[in-house]
Amino acid sequence: MGLGVSARYNPDFVPNIQSADGLSLCLRACAATPRAPNHPSVMMDGGEIREGIIGAVGNTPMIRLNRLSEALGREVLCKAEHLNPGGSVKDRAAKFMIEAAEKTGALKPGGTIVEGTAGNTGIGLAMLALARGYRAVIVMPDNQSPEKYAALRALRADVRTVKATKFADPNHFYHTAKRLAQALEGVWTDQFENPANAQAHYETTGPEIWRQVEGRIDAFVMSSGTGGTLGGISSFLKTKASGLQVVLADPPGSGLFSYIKTGEIKTEGNSITEGIGIMRVTQNFSRAKVDDAIRVVDQNVVEMAHWLLQNEGLFGGSSSSLNVWAAARVARDLPRGARVVTVVCDGGQRYQSRLYDESWLSEKSLTPTGRGLDSLLMGE
Ligand SMILES: Cc1ncc(COP(=O)(O)O)c(C=O)c1O
Repeated sequence: MGLGVSARYNPDFVPNIQSADGLSLCLRACAATPRAPNHPSVMMDGGEIREGIIGAVGNTPMIRLNRLSEALGREVLCKAEHLNPGGSVKDRAAKFMIEAAEKTGALKPGGTIVEGTAGNTGIGLAMLALARGYRAVIVMPDNQSPEKYAALRALRADVRTVKATKFADPNHFYHTAKRLAQALEGVWTDQFENPANAQAHYETTGPEIWRQVEGRIDAFVMSSGTGGTLGGISSFLKTKASGLQVVLADPPGSGLFSYIKTGEIKTEGNSITEGIGIMRVTQNFSRAKVDDAIRVVDQNVVEMAHWLLQNEGLFGGSSSSLNVWAAARVARDLPRGARVVTVVCDGGQRYQSRLYDESWLSEKSLTPTGRGLDSLLMGE
């Protein structure tokens, strides 16, 4: 028996599982893994009054994925970045980029912020722009989930969509945003190259993780879009735990997997994931201290998203399930009791019409099969 999506959770039931495909998932051994009820939450400074919506960014919980950890005999923890006020990890970058532009005087009261984005950075910027009295002009490729455009419009952003195209095309959303910022005399926040992006994670997410794990962490696993999250967190954590293993999780269609493995940016295929995967090394990514890389295919992203929903009650986006799949694979290959941390980058609400929609998945031939964890973690 694998730990299938229909399995019922009973904390006292610890069968010894030897799967047919050779992956031993010993639930009894992981009874040694600390469980939430015996393990008091780390007190974070999240209980005080926050200074406006910008003060509500960060200090997110760290969540132990109990059933996954118990099945693996290794702990998988996730930093719940979907609980930021704008619903994603990108709120931190948005906050730091706005504050940096305010500090230099580039962003003045009533000013205009312009950004090219797959959506989440735009949502963070638009939300904070309202609170700070700025205008947000957001340039997006036309192939992202409808929920993200709708959220941006609800946040009063001026949304400009461009055809999804290669970076070399001058009409790519990145170059379009740069031109538009000049034309509008706005501030182009340039999340890909702006050092304030990774700095947000170096100064906040990294230290929060370190505090929450109380100095015990064996691996950190994360995908990369701009590279800000991976760059900031990995460079901070490596100053604290030099033996920490950092693993990049990368979808097909991105060149970073091969970059880490061979030093060359190459790829094939594509992916339904949004906000991650890139064919160039950004300044933010170049801060990352990465030891290894794992490629995660769409079928595993979808399968894990539905497994997490069914078994953990975790409703995550596609990059989150990609991260957790890779984290579980890394954990599986570490000694029993090891602890792996990853990131829930945004929530499933943002992909309800795609990742969680039966007909959309069926059209893409990605209908989840509900196969058990042991089989889900086999293969590529
Ligand atoms: C859903 C999602 N996951 C992951 C990322 C990657 O974060 P970063 O840009 O810090 O690499 C993004 C970035 O936009 C995102 O939107």
